[in-house]
Amino acid sequence: MKTDAYTSEAWRVGVLFSSSGFMAVIEETQLRGTLLAIEEVNAAGGVNGRELVPVMYDPASESAAFGRYAKRLMVEDHVSTIFGCYTSSSRKAVLPVVERLNGLLWYPTLYEGFEFSPNVIYTGAAPNQNSVALCRYLMDHYGPRFYFVGSDYIYPRESNRIMHELLRGNGGEVVGETYLDLRARRHDFLPVIRDIGRLQPDVIFSTVVGDSTIHLYQSYADAGFNPKVMPIASLTTTEAEIRAMGFDVGEGHVTAAPYFQGVGGASNSSFVARYKKRYGENEPTNMCVEAAYFQVHIFAKALEQTNSTDTDLLRPMVLGSTFEAPQGRVSINATCNHADLWTRIGRVNRRGQFDVVQQSLNPVIADPYLTGYGSPAACQRG
Ligand code: ACM
Repeated sequence: MKTDAYTSEAWRVGVLFSSSGFMAVIEETQLRGTLLAIEEVNAAGGVNGRELVPVMYDPASESAAFGRYAKRLMVEDHVSTIFGCYTSSSRKAVLPVVERLNGLLWYPTLYEGFEFSPNVIYTGAAPNQNSVALCRYLMDHYGPRFYFVGSDYIYPRESNRIMHELLRGNGGEVVGETYLDLRARRHDFLPVIRDIGRLQPDVIFSTVVGDSTIHLYQSYADAGFNPKVMPIASLTTTEAEIRAMGFDVGEGHVTAAPYFQGVGGASNSSFVARYKKRYGENEPTNMCVEAAYFQVHIFAKALEQTNSTDTDLLRPMVLGSTFEAPQGRVSINATCNHADLWTRIGRVNRRGQFDVVQQSLNPVIADPYLTGYGSPAACQRG
């Protein structure tokens, strides 16, 4: 077994987020969160006196490129720890690489659940930490008739399958369901907007991601729909996309997430201040930045104990560990490699921030296979 003790060399870690292409609007923020945490660890003396050095590639929003770069990181750059991936298709492209070569992918994005790999640490929300509460909130406040619109890949299709089941279980119905190419432009949303106008749902549940998000919300605003009575609800639309679409366009729409920039607490205020100092006063934080940020700190704490990036040594130190994250205390659940996270529902205000309208009383235990659906821990109401 390789150990890394007794050397003053830097710790090299892989970083794979797109800073170009149609996913850069959100992945670039995950890159920033990762780099901010790395800089903080280094400013505090590194890990056991050794700096963290990111080895970075830009997969340019192409899922297959994530797989190729992950292989390059592990085989040519001799890196075993990778922070990266937003889309579930990019994670699925990296999975066989880290599994075959025994790497550890740290994945800071909400996803559709129903996955476990010993070679992944999942720090974004699973469906029991966002979809369950969102479904109930929307039904209680807006009504039972949902229209689904999504980008065409695994996360939207699977997330909609789950939302469909939750809706049906609560007496709701799906009145329409449409998928568009990940590269969809403004005009591609016109038929969707016409469909919505005709069907008049109570809620539009969007699993659209990346630049297309902006086109969807802007097309909705152009049509003159009213978010007070028929909001777009999402698990992916963050402060970053709201800024890109315009605060007036985003106002009134709803997102469920473990973190919003506006959550209270000293840990978050200081995180937001450090982020803005580093990247600019107008750069908001968001749930994806936050997960990308705290997972690096969890990694660094574990590495301090193992003094080795060997996955077999690191993993047991990571599992069960806790961290005072900007969202509140989080832990890596040792039964499933997913993080126990807070559940929050936010509504966009005219400053492009989310007002938190509901939140869990405690972190919600990760249940990626929804085995405990119906149990108090998995389905807390705020
Ligand atoms: C996602 O693709 N997991 C948002």
